[in-house]
Amino acid sequence: MRRPLISGNWKMNLNHYEAITIVQKLVYTIPNETYETVDVSVHPPFTDIRSVQTVIEADSLDIFLGAQHCHWDDHGAYTGEISPVFLAKLDVDYVVCGHSERRELFGETDEMVAAKVEAILRHEMLPIMCVGETLDEREAGVTEDKVLAQVRAGLADRSAEQVASLVIAYEPIWAIGTGRTATADDAQAVCAAIRSVVSTDWGSDAGAAVRIQYGGSVKSGNTTELMAMPDIDGALVGGASLDADEFARIVQFAAG
Ligand code: PGA
Repeated sequence: MRRPLISGNWKMNLNHYEAITIVQKLVYTIPNETYETVDVSVHPPFTDIRSVQTVIEADSLDIFLGAQHCHWDDHGAYTGEISPVFLAKLDVDYVVCGHSERRELFGETDEMVAAKVEAILRHEMLPIMCVGETLDEREAGVTEDKVLAQVRAGLADRSAEQVASLVIAYEPIWAIGTGRTATADDAQAVCAAIRSVVSTDWGSDAGAAVRIQYGGSVKSGNTTELMAMPDIDGALVGGASLDADEFARIVQFAAG
């Protein structure tokens, strides 16, 4: 049985004071029993992570700590980059990698994504590896070709056990921050294709275990429909995760 994972990707929003406030608000808005059926992670900017970690640890919260990105090497001359070692030291649980904004705006390639996936696992954190097609690709009918190639490239050298443990986020690029969501049926079709490739390439146990999130304009109003789909195991939520009440509603709808 796959536990759904709802992840709040705050992107470049919320300073560390605002981050603490939103986590505290989530804590008193989400009933404790919700965490029995759903996992929740928050992915603050790097400058907030230590503050959020302190709140989570001090109050033994059931929220998982996430990051949005990291480098693949442990140390080195990479001005401005963040090592996976530093994230592991802060007890980060999940690290997003290959987000389309990183791929498009910062030139992240499939090879870099594969190196990050390896590094994140090497430091005993779990990758949330993002894949997704552009509007042009969808209209040209090559959605699955693009997405499945990204899955294969990003996970190329990983073992079946590693693949079983991680999270893939299917995020159609045209649905991110636009208010447009893939229909639940369309999202399900792509997530099913991803699961099928994982089963073919890494075995049916990995296919059955890997968690696949949908992302792209997820809100409380479309959560139930998306989560009812058999191959959608959670959501990567951008804009709607910046509002504690709205994010809490998404989490509760995901919990059923
Ligand atoms: P959105 O972002 O929910 O604002 O569309 C999703 C994401 O980029 O992870």
